[in-house]
Amino acid sequence: MNAAALFDVSGLATVVTGGASGIGLAYAGVMADNDARVTIMDADKRALGEVVERCRSAGQDVRGEVVDVTDRTALERSFDATARHYGRLDVVFANAGIGGGPGFLKLDGERNPDRALENIPSDLWDKVIAIDLTSVFSTLQAAARHMKARGGRIIVTTSISAMRTETFVAAPYVAAKAGAAQLVRQAAHELARYNITVNAIAPGPFVTNISGGRLKDPAVRAPFERFSPMRRIGEPDDIKGLALFLASPAAALITGAQIVIDGGMTLGIAD
Ligand SMILES: NC(=O)c1ccc[n+]([C@@H]2O[C@H](COP(=O)([O-])OP(=O)(O)OC[C@H]3O[C@@H](n4cnc5c(N)ncnc54)[C@H](O)[C@@H]3O)[C@@H](O)[C@H]2O)c1
Repeated sequence: MNAAALFDVSGLATVVTGGASGIGLAYAGVMADNDARVTIMDADKRALGEVVERCRSAGQDVRGEVVDVTDRTALERSFDATARHYGRLDVVFANAGIGGGPGFLKLDGERNPDRALENIPSDLWDKVIAIDLTSVFSTLQAAARHMKARGGRIIVTTSISAMRTETFVAAPYVAAKAGAAQLVRQAAHELARYNITVNAIAPGPFVTNISGGRLKDPAVRAPFERFSPMRRIGEPDDIKGLALFLASPAAALITGAQIVIDGGMTLGIAD
């Protein structure tokens, strides 16, 4: 099998939640660049409209569904409309998510009393769990419903926060991502029989619009870069190869995996 056939995703009916920005936009971009048919689901109507317009002018087969992934009924409606449009669903990226905001340490290493465990507001907990965990469950349910008849690929964006603790990110995010990671394994186990693979991509810090785009600021980025053995953090383009791989025939027998993409950050500090 040559490389073109191994990584062929042409014609695959693909959904990317949270695809109007950052990592999701990179997923949608690499799939559309390789002739997949892509539906981007996102709550940001304006950003979604601009992205779809740009993709279409570049000749790509991309459509948009404005939907808040925490609205189960609306999410199911969008999945139904998308499956009807394509006549099938092959690949789903469950990617929409938000950050947890600052952690128990400030970037200068001082304690941040606002984010001490006992001071984390319950509405922050509820919001992060709703978007970063419960909506992953709803997206898995919608995907499974549409894929059981003919198989498919589900790829969930978790985080390195799923497998280690954080100082600069608040606790609810860590809990949500760890929950999502275990949900990936559970769903992979159950759905293997239906030829549906379920895997996770666990990024380290990437420069996107998450948490108000704070990593675009070199001063905010600096401590993260210092803790990266490769001395840099991710740009959305860095994730395209892994996304294409997991959606392609090359990854046909891989399921229940969580693949870290972090420049070595989870390995520890280096020089
Ligand atoms: N950027 C990082 O450092 C990083 C690291 C690890 C994991 N992640 C994960 O990657 C995923 C994508 O984040 P990103 O960094 O690209 O952020 P981003 O803010 O650039 O993009 C997130 C997109 O999701 C959409 N979205 C947010 N809430 C939504 C909702 N309720 N319904 C529908 N759409 C919604 C936003 O409108 C936006 O278009 C998230 O799950 C995030 O937790 C990001």
